[in-house]
Amino acid sequence: MAPVQPGLNPVLSPGPEPASAPNPTPPPTIDYLRISLIDRCNFRCQYCMPEGAELDYLQRSAWLSDDELLLLLGEVFLPLGFSRFRFTGGEPLLRPQLARLIARVAALPGTQDVALTTNGFLLADQAADLYGAGLRRINISLDSLQPEVFDALVGNRGRSRWRQVWQGIQTAHAVGFDPLKLNVVVIPGINDGELLDLAALSIDRAWHVRFIEFMPIGNDALFGDRGWIPSETIRQQVRDRWGLEAGTVLGNGPADVFQIPGAKGTLGFISQMSECFCDRCNRMRLSADGWLRPCLLNETGQIDLKTALRGGTDLALLRHQVQTLLQLKPEINYKQRDAGTTGRYGKTMSQIGG
Ligand code: GTP
Ligand code: 5AD
Ligand code: SF4
Repeated sequence: MAPVQPGLNPVLSPGPEPASAPNPTPPPTIDYLRISLIDRCNFRCQYCMPEGAELDYLQRSAWLSDDELLLLLGEVFLPLGFSRFRFTGGEPLLRPQLARLIARVAALPGTQDVALTTNGFLLADQAADLYGAGLRRINISLDSLQPEVFDALVGNRGRSRWRQVWQGIQTAHAVGFDPLKLNVVVIPGINDGELLDLAALSIDRAWHVRFIEFMPIGNDALFGDRGWIPSETIRQQVRDRWGLEAGTVLGNGPADVFQIPGAKGTLGFISQMSECFCDRCNRMRLSADGWLRPCLLNETGQIDLKTALRGGTDLALLRHQVQTLLQLKPEINYKQRDAGTTGRYGKTMSQIGG
């Protein structure tokens, strides 16, 4: 299948509409907070960070502590209507005492949904504890079914990583995670020859396979070399092979959900490049060091909650500041929609939280 080159991306070429053009549909309720628990990662996925990159990791003292995070959720975010939380990283399974933290968040009055996105490498060991803590929804990266391709993609330094991730997925399934989603970032010339094999994982088990359009964040050189593949191209391959119908699965993210007829699981498509979803964005992001960020791509209005908290700022004032940012969010969404997925980002996905 032909990759799309960056210059041909309609999202990369802003249309004539003014940045603040109102959207015909009302903005969505913003009730989903993606919480990065750590900026470190035990993988170095090629699409996430440039080869050989030396990232400046945060000192542990710079992370929001469990107690600080609980205080912010309980006193700022839940009262403002956030009720769905997803833990990300870096790699969140590297966060010490993760299960205990998840149990505490799940127990906060008003929490409706707690989920986690992981690379799965440490999952075989932790799956049972995480489930015991109340976690039910888990998204795991699985970009290839071929161990050599997978290992090259995630920056294998020696022993094979694929087998351990596969074991992690099997363990999560056996423990009872539902829905269990598998994230595939599609990269021309790397894994585009096995997309139907990956889609087939959704047939016999209730596994939900999601194809993510490669975005120019993290590794510009790879993006420039490879380009990206529109979701519709993959959907057409699936239609030609099995047929494809509308599907549903529990989730708060931007995936469009379909299903192979008769399959137990679904296929999701995350199409930021071909069908920008900025104007239906329902989420904000909290970084491991406590910055509240209104958008993956846009830092407008971000708030340093950790410094404010440690400096003794009154929680009511913090709540007010976050509320003001919430009111700005629809405008930021429209601006980002019109700017497209462009530009150079000072941070990789692992630093922002995917
Ligand atoms: P559920 O739908 O609740 O399962 O979660 P999700 O799809 O939001 O979570 P996940 O962490 O699995 O996200 C999958 C991928 O979607 C991310 O790794 C990103 O590539 C992409 N994504 C999620 N949120 C955003 C966003 O706000 N903007 C952009 N451009 N991409 C996003
Ligand atoms: N494009 C699309 N998705 C990406 N991710 C990381 N880098 C990129 C990129 N350049 C997503 C993957 C990964 C999660 C942590 O972030 O889904 O699983
Ligand atoms: Fe790979 Fe995720 Fe780690 Fe980035 S944060 S290197 S995408 S596992």
